[in-house]
Amino acid sequence: MHKINKAFKVYLNQLILIAALLIFNSNQVLSQDVAAGEKLFKNNCAQCHKVTDQKLVGPGLKGVADRVPKPAEAWLIKWIKNSQSLVKAGDAYAVKIFEEYNKSVMPSQAVTDDEIKSILAYIANPPADPKAAATATATPDGATTKTDSSTVLYFLLGLILLFLILISVLNGVKNSLQRLVNNKEGIPEPVQVSYDTAYFKNWARTNKKIVALGLIVIVSYGAKAAWNGMMGIGIYEGYAPEQPINFSHKIHAGQNAINCVYCHSGVEKSKISNVPSANVCMNCHKAIQEGPVAGKKEIAKIYAALDYDPAKDTYGPNPKPIKWIKVHQLPEHAYFNHAQHVTVGKQECTTCHGPIAEMDTVRQFTPLTMGWCIDCHRKTEVKMEGNPYYN
Ligand code: HEC
Ligand code: HEC
Ligand code: HEC
Ligand code: HEC
Ligand code: HEC
Repeated sequence: MHKINKAFKVYLNQLILIAALLIFNSNQVLSQDVAAGEKLFKNNCAQCHKVTDQKLVGPGLKGVADRVPKPAEAWLIKWIKNSQSLVKAGDAYAVKIFEEYNKSVMPSQAVTDDEIKSILAYIANPPADPKAAATATATPDGATTKTDSSTVLYFLLGLILLFLILISVLNGVKNSLQRLVNNKEGIPEPVQVSYDTAYFKNWARTNKKIVALGLIVIVSYGAKAAWNGMMGIGIYEGYAPEQPINFSHKIHAGQNAINCVYCHSGVEKSKISNVPSANVCMNCHKAIQEGPVAGKKEIAKIYAALDYDPAKDTYGPNPKPIKWIKVHQLPEHAYFNHAQHVTVGKQECTTCHGPIAEMDTVRQFTPLTMGWCIDCHRKTEVKMEGNPYYN
């Protein structure tokens, strides 16, 4: 009977180890695919598609794998890489949606097969709350990147529950086996234990390994989710929103070589690098009333904001601020100070913001993730000890 007990324990321990590894790995792959897919989707597809059934430029992609010709994945890879080749080849479904969307061509997407698979994983596991998804595309808010983690967590908890049930069933089997052996050897039946809290405490005490493993799985999962959440902050590389006035850094900082600090006057002395107020624009645009590209149209918006009449050179009573859309955005918990980096640390604007003087529209050039901050701090040997920021 000792043998049975021992063999059973070894067997159970192995089972638990395997299951724990399986749970941990599969769920890692799942959440990574979905997270990667989300980023790819936002960068490549979100301007034309939603992951709900709502139309944008193209159809809503909810459940798309169910309606396209089978095998769905192969068809979708072909379509996304070159939709027109399918249309031209006379694929009935391709021709049908192409015509349904007034023959607007979906441009070929520069994504690899694996990237498409991640995108499809994201489409199949969209963010739980459609409202949150809508704001996620509208604002560069890092907090919305971990939308899929809650579903994964439920999945994990479900598996753990299943697992506990399995253990108690196996335990039952073991007990009856033991009773059989005991009967045969003439040992009296042990007192029946009931399944109350004392039983579980007892079980936990005699199965320390299982409990420890379970705890490790749960804790490491939590730590990983937190780590991902932190490392993934503000991952909107390439984000370039349309601004209320078509302001070009290329014309101002590039062709006319206006110094960055002339407009972003706070950058050398304060935490925040301010965007200039409309009054600063007027230093020049009182005189310059026409631009080389847009003529009077865009500059007139500065006048409208200040309620200024260029013909009479008078200001009206109703000025309103220009609502510039913030391009670079760190989450609340990150502390970043421009003056410390530009004045003390002697870092160039272009190191972090890229060739702004060549951009007509500002776009986020670097990833702005915590990993990116730390990479440079390692190279430039920033003292990390004693700085509460890194804790
Ligand atoms: C510039 C707009 C645009 C972009 C960007 C775009 N699409 Fe499309 N997509 C369309 C249009 C329009 C259609 C409708 C078919 C047509 O007119 O060719 C379509 C159709 C589709 C379909 C077929 C939908 C159905 O209901 O059968 C899929 C799948 C799809 N797109 C996936 C993607 C993915 C994935 C990306 C990003 C990697 C992407 N698209 C990027 C415009 C776009
Ligand atoms: C130091 C001078 C200066 C300041 C300050 C300035 N600009 Fe300009 N801006 C220029 C010059 C020079 C041009 C180009 C005129 C030309 O080439 O004909 C220009 C052109 C423009 C144009 C026309 C671009 C086109 O496509 O035709 C817009 C719009 C504009 N500026 C917006 C602004 C805004 C908004 C501000 C304030 C945030 C501002 N400017 C501040 C000097 C300035
Ligand atoms: C004539 C004024 C002017 C000059 C000169 C200028 N900027 Fe700007 N900058 C603006 C305005 C206005 C905005 C907000 C609109 C936009 O994002 O295009 C802005 C936005 C930005 C942003 C994005 C801010 C955000 O929302 O995250 C960065 C980064 C930036 N500027 C860097 C620079 C650098 C670097 C230079 C010098 C190479 C420079 N700027 C020169 C007026 C100026
Ligand atoms: C070490 C990297 C780094 C350098 C160097 C740097 N920036 Fe930034 N910049 C950032 C980050 C990160 C943000 C986002 C800050 C936030 O959201 O709190 C930002 C945001 C901005 C903004 C938007 C307003 C704000 O403060 O949030 C402007 C404008 C800007 N930078 C201009 C400049 C200019 C001009 C220079 C050079 C004189 C410069 N930056 C140098 C990293 C840098
Ligand atoms: C290109 C290099 C570079 C990048 C990227 C960079 N830093 Fe720094 N950082 C520096 C240097 C150099 C210093 C040292 C300045 C000094 O001597 O105090 C510094 C110092 C700091 C400090 C300590 C000084 C203070 O302000 O209290 C903090 C905090 C900091 N950085 C936060 C960040 C964050 C957050 C990011 C990412 C959003 C970031 N840094 C990205 C180069 C960089």
